[in-house]
Amino acid sequence: MSESLTTYDFLAGSNHTERATGSTTHMNSNHPSYFDSGAGGSIGSETMAVALIGPDEQRRKEAARALLSCGGTEVREYSAYPPTLDDVPRLLDQRNDIMLIDLDSNPEYALELVESICANASATVMVYSAKADPELLVRCMRAGAREFLTPPFAHNTMAEALVRANARRAAVRAPRKTGGRLLVFLGAKGGSGVTTLACNFAVSLAQESGQSTLLIDLDLPLGDAALNMGIVTEYSTVNALQEAGRLDAAFLNKLITKHSSGVSVLAAPGKFPQFHATNEAIDKLITVARQEFDNVIVDVGARLDLTDTSLFKEAFTIYLVTQAGIPELRNSNRLINQFFTVGSPKLEIVINRYEPRAMGVTDDAITKALTRPANWKIPNDYAAVRQMQNTATPLALGDSPVARLIKQMAISICGQRAAQPKKKGFKLFG
Ligand SMILES: Nc1ncnc2c1ncn2[C@@H]1O[C@H](COP(=O)(O)OP(=O)(O)OP(=O)(O)O)[C@@H](O)[C@H]1O
Ligand SMILES: [Mg+2]
Repeated sequence: MSESLTTYDFLAGSNHTERATGSTTHMNSNHPSYFDSGAGGSIGSETMAVALIGPDEQRRKEAARALLSCGGTEVREYSAYPPTLDDVPRLLDQRNDIMLIDLDSNPEYALELVESICANASATVMVYSAKADPELLVRCMRAGAREFLTPPFAHNTMAEALVRANARRAAVRAPRKTGGRLLVFLGAKGGSGVTTLACNFAVSLAQESGQSTLLIDLDLPLGDAALNMGIVTEYSTVNALQEAGRLDAAFLNKLITKHSSGVSVLAAPGKFPQFHATNEAIDKLITVARQEFDNVIVDVGARLDLTDTSLFKEAFTIYLVTQAGIPELRNSNRLINQFFTVGSPKLEIVINRYEPRAMGVTDDAITKALTRPANWKIPNDYAAVRQMQNTATPLALGDSPVARLIKQMAISICGQRAAQPKKKGFKLFG
């Protein structure tokens, strides 16, 4: 199998993932792979992602060669330390399995880096130093480093370190026994407000619950959840569904983009893909997502072709998003009668853009059409929603009537959280 090696530079621009050299080199391993699953590819399920941070080029290249000689790794080289510890979260967004850090270029700062990474990520941190100084070694271990390597890097030493890191990765990522909550947003009709509500609900639930939360855009091919969240994504739901056979937690984690609210997003593709997902692929995606996240929120748009998937069978709650217009109420009535047996505890009806007696439809008529009272009425708030779109800032981060109601929806799922001290300096974009 081949491993990829890419060089990045923290100083190359505001975004540290910009390439310094602009080149990607594929190198063939001369040694049998310790991890080779045959999956191949840069986002394969078994490949270990390594961030190699080393200002000293010669030592860094030597370390990269040693890593690649063991097989099963994708190595990203960083030719500088992150400028400040505040840049560490951006580095961690890369979701590497291993961080290998050069100590000698600036030992004190490198130790702070090790400590900060270990405190904030489950990646295995390894360090290397040409000085086999016992005091430095002890300080590294106290900071959380798992391996202390000394150049020249012996193949066996590096391979054994990788085996330990791989075993640790498996333990850290062991799937949870029970699945996370599955919360599905379905529109009675296109344009009902599914994406607006699903995105803001995800942000609110992540905040209120403090739990890991994933938003999946399954409104293929043209879902626009990422646009509503104000994020640019590299991979999409289609990548996950196309490779459902080898989809696991590690693979899923590589496909998602983290929003600064803490919500992870698996977005719809930017391009119009010629792809039809099977129900099995969708079920696999949902299973893996629920193993990895406490809350999985899915925007299915107005797609009714998914009713035979686990989305409908295993959902904790299905939010049917509708409006008080005649076409929406008519569709809602048909949907409820066909898919939700009387009193189904799973179903919660959300009337979006609600205005009392708007369009001459009374509350009684609405209840009759819906066969039951709506669970939630979200006001029509053009200004707040427009502001959200213009600033790419989820409503849930503000204090509009819509945001307050969405927060109530989230609290009804996870319960009220004990008061937390207010976070200072919250930034929407990292
Ligand atoms: N409560 C609200 N008040 C005012 N405008 C809203 C509200 N909810 C949604 N909108 C607006 O309605 C339009 C449709 O919303 P949205 O894209 O969320 O619907 P959707 O059901 O996801 O549509 P699609 O079927 O295209 O996926 C958007 O322009 C959105 O800004
Ligand atoms: Mg939508």
